[in-house]
Amino acid sequence: MSHAIRFHQTGGPEVLKWEEVAVGDPGPNEARIAHKAIGLNYIDTYHRTGLYPMPMPSGIGLEAAGVVEAVGAGVTEFKVGDRVAYCNGPIGAYSEKKIHPVDRLVKLPEGISFEQGACMMLQGLTAHYLLRRLHVVPQAGDFVLWHAAAGGVGLIACQMAKAYGVNLIGTVSSPEKAALAKEHGAVHTIDYTKEDFVARVAEITGGKKCPVVYDSVGKDTFMKSLDCVRTRGLLALFGNASGPVDSLNTGLLAAKGSLYVTRPTLISYTAVRAELVAAANELFDHVLAGRIKVGARQSYALKDAAKAHTDLEARKTTGSTVLVP
Ligand SMILES: NC(=O)c1ccc[n+]([C@@H]2O[C@H](COP(=O)([O-])OP(=O)(O)OC[C@H]3O[C@@H](n4cnc5c(N)ncnc54)[C@H](OP(=O)(O)O)[C@@H]3O)[C@@H](O)[C@H]2O)c1
Repeated sequence: MSHAIRFHQTGGPEVLKWEEVAVGDPGPNEARIAHKAIGLNYIDTYHRTGLYPMPMPSGIGLEAAGVVEAVGAGVTEFKVGDRVAYCNGPIGAYSEKKIHPVDRLVKLPEGISFEQGACMMLQGLTAHYLLRRLHVVPQAGDFVLWHAAAGGVGLIACQMAKAYGVNLIGTVSSPEKAALAKEHGAVHTIDYTKEDFVARVAEITGGKKCPVVYDSVGKDTFMKSLDCVRTRGLLALFGNASGPVDSLNTGLLAAKGSLYVTRPTLISYTAVRAELVAAANELFDHVLAGRIKVGARQSYALKDAAKAHTDLEARKTTGSTVLVP
């Protein structure tokens, strides 16, 4: 028997249970993967609380790295023993083993560890599509505002922005997180629990504001984030760490200077396999070349996933976190 974290009702971290599960054999175009490291992501808390509804009971988790143990009929791109990782597809990555569709897998290159794979597939590919593939792509020398810059997506974004010559202004909630974001390439940091980030962004940019603002905090920051976007610029609302933004008066976008707002997801930016593989290869190149460093700043036994959720939601973690089966 194998084990997985599952939940039978939505709620706090305590709903996450360590259970025995039967995994079985892969079907056509599927592989069975023995997980070595599993990525902890904020979206996992949205599934657990019911903010993003799931049929119950459910597994949880979208990202892992491991070894292919078996492949089903028709699989030619992967074989037993391959080191692989994934960041979307059917939910249930918090498990020792999982059957996964092979069109969602990428091979981990030599030189990228399982832990790094589980830290960078979801958070790194998110930083990548946000900085490189939205309707407005910041250019070298531009200032952008990135909320929660010391978090999992945030620390990778700090480094990626630097690699592309983009000046990232990062918001954080403590001096320790400010130092960490700066170490990873943020040009300026703002403690948004103490400072008025709209005023600080205006000051830093000489009143010009930012062509793109990246907001994953949501409810607490969204309206003020709009005031940091320059005329005809873009606000990318990509998460809800403080709660969802339920409505927007579109007239405000006119009043604040013909602004664009997008609510993007990694799933839509990696739905086409060729796009998933190309983005992953670009990210792997950055890591192998040393331009972006990824690794777990926290690690928990998979069994202790509830504790990991508690710490993530209490803003106690920084950077990426893995669960180890
Ligand atoms: N749309 C997509 O494609 C996509 C993909 C991946 C992730 N995301 C989103 O990106 C965000 C970051 O994900 P992550 O996994 O890397 O998490 P994370 O940034 O490591 O953790 C969330 C951070 O948000 C900040 N925060 C601000 N207000 C908060 C509150 N009321 N409660 C909890 N945290 C709060 C905290 O940083 P401070 O203490 O510094 O404020 C916290 O550390 C999440 O919102 C996630 O949903 C979206």
